[in-house]
Amino acid sequence: MANWAGCAIRRLEETDSTNKQARLWAREGAPHGAVVTARRQTAGRGRRGRDWDSATDAGLWLSMVLRPAVSSAALGLLPFAAALAAADACLAAAGVSPSIKWPNDLLLSGRKVAGILLEIEGDAAVMGIGINVRHRPEDFPPDLRQNATSLEIITGRRVPMAALENALYLEIERRIDGWDFMAEYTARCVTLGARVLVIEVNGEFTGDAEGLDEGGALLVRDGEGSLRRVLAGDVSVRKG
Ligand code: BTN
Repeated sequence: MANWAGCAIRRLEETDSTNKQARLWAREGAPHGAVVTARRQTAGRGRRGRDWDSATDAGLWLSMVLRPAVSSAALGLLPFAAALAAADACLAAAGVSPSIKWPNDLLLSGRKVAGILLEIEGDAAVMGIGINVRHRPEDFPPDLRQNATSLEIITGRRVPMAALENALYLEIERRIDGWDFMAEYTARCVTLGARVLVIEVNGEFTGDAEGLDEGGALLVRDGEGSLRRVLAGDVSVRKG
């Protein structure tokens, strides 16, 4: 059993976004580890202003309030801990180990199975985690179908949602208590060391992903030999 992760849980049938609800709770003083889950989100939020498709009971949709004893700058590293934790929770509950694409997308068979959204609320962080569990291919909206998958599509077996949630709490707690997860992240992130295509608002370029800076930005060596710092672009790993 986890000690603080999931110490208080608000389980909602339906809500707009568990991140939004967790932020409201954080403002009212929700403790470190408090969680909001929902069976369905009507306005699930993804990174970079995107929507997150969150149909009833199709996945694990939850947000955790975190108040770790680290600087506010270090809070930006939390999604890396969450990506490791979510990948290991998938292994524990479903027997499959998603790869981690920078910054924190989890992929199985090259398709996205989980995503993470960090939002800051005052002095707290709200970590939103969405894991696609029960979807069949036709359950995804047509525009997502080629790029998304679920644990049950991959395994062909029923995945116990409670086991997934509990494993997630244990894995998050372990990473955050130790606060020493960046070496593990660097070793496991498939983007690092790969040739990548970076799509930014002002254009795109191809380069070699050489590493991360101290804030977690991706350092990519472009065709001219310059090291470029990528904060929020769409990055895809190229073959070969
Ligand atoms: C991404 O774009 O990859 C991040 C997706 C994060 C989705 C989760 S689902 C639970 C929580 N509530 C939200 O509104 N978003 C996050």
